[in-house]
Amino acid sequence: MATDRPIPTVPAVDGNRLWDSLTAMAALGATAKGGCRRVAFTDEDRRGRDLFRSWCEVEGLRVSVDVFGNMFARRPGRSNLPPVLVGSHLDTQPTGGRFDGVYGVLAGLELVRTLNAAGIMTERPIEIVNWTNEEGAIYRSMMGSEVFTGALALEEALALVDLDGRRLGDALDAIGYRGTAGLWSYPVHCYFEAHIEQGPVLEAHGTTIGVVTDGIAFRRYAITIEGREAHAGPTPMALRRDAMVTAAALIGATHAHALEVEGARATFGYLKAHPGVPNTLAGRVEMSADLRHREDEMLDGLEERLAADLQRVCAEQGTSATLRRVVTSPRVRFHPALRRRVAEAAQALGYSREEIVSGAGHDACNIARRIPAAMIFIPCKDGISHNEAESAEPADCEAGCNVLLHAVLAAAND
Ligand code: GLV
Ligand code: MN
Ligand code: MN
Ligand code: MN
Repeated sequence: MATDRPIPTVPAVDGNRLWDSLTAMAALGATAKGGCRRVAFTDEDRRGRDLFRSWCEVEGLRVSVDVFGNMFARRPGRSNLPPVLVGSHLDTQPTGGRFDGVYGVLAGLELVRTLNAAGIMTERPIEIVNWTNEEGAIYRSMMGSEVFTGALALEEALALVDLDGRRLGDALDAIGYRGTAGLWSYPVHCYFEAHIEQGPVLEAHGTTIGVVTDGIAFRRYAITIEGREAHAGPTPMALRRDAMVTAAALIGATHAHALEVEGARATFGYLKAHPGVPNTLAGRVEMSADLRHREDEMLDGLEERLAADLQRVCAEQGTSATLRRVVTSPRVRFHPALRRRVAEAAQALGYSREEIVSGAGHDACNIARRIPAAMIFIPCKDGISHNEAESAEPADCEAGCNVLLHAVLAAAND
């Protein structure tokens, strides 16, 4: 394999220390089923951020918070060259696990702790980042990195609402994490993000390290269906204009179509019926749709089909609807040279590895549109994520962190 430069002798990370940090963070918002609920902008989010900040300060890092709450913990380099950024997110799904996002932030912390303990200075500074609200408001996710890169305007983001209907700007104020640092106010050299795979591939193949080549394309939609509220008893079936039945028909049709298209994903994860009582037909349904495919062009077809199916089921039910695309995330290709560094690190450390495509969106996808970026995946149990049962092996967490350390160290000495 072609190598730019020999990988220098690098100390090993402390897998137990990393695991202890993951465990301590998981205690904040711990759920009865062993998962985590540390939803962005809640008090648990604040406590998670506070804990991360305190750990960083113990390591002598300078922590700054930008105007959208993204946290950056800086370890100085010998020079003032643009830093290497490494991180992910500490917020979780409402019924989330202990690893999604958290692993990437705490792996960043562990690599800094390892460098500090070994007294290793790097040429460039290293910054650990915790992105705000990766898991999403009602329709959006990965907002911190979107705002940071300018893909989403700050004012627009602050005006969106979270799952409890609060404006994000107010919610950020409430937890004390609306900072003053500017958005992308200095150049950044490159970005690394370590993450659990959130799918079944690595585990099925018995592979330790996934070298992520691409992030699949996805689009997200807000759909509103208008019907007519009516009494559940006296209203004959033939005279109904039922928004809920329209939604159900759309979901069924889209799901069936996605099953037929190789590589397609269609998800309806959010649905709100109005007035939302058992004895009244739904007069209005608000719902999300999320379509994914590795190829952007295939998404065009899936989107057309979604719109056509919506029109058809509305005609059948006597309802009407609007379909609004709220997120467009084209396919992302991670940087070849950084991917090679990840692969070389895995090779040097004797870990099995394979190239893999990310089906999930990540902050790295937003960052990769601006600067070189790479992702490192580790296996997770049964491929399960966005679930309280999400689980990863300590040895895999340690392996991914060692690979991250090697790759970051090489980049920080560019
Ligand atoms: C982000 O988590 C996404 O893939 O939706
Ligand atoms: Mn994540
Ligand atoms: Mn997630
Ligand atoms: Mn995600």
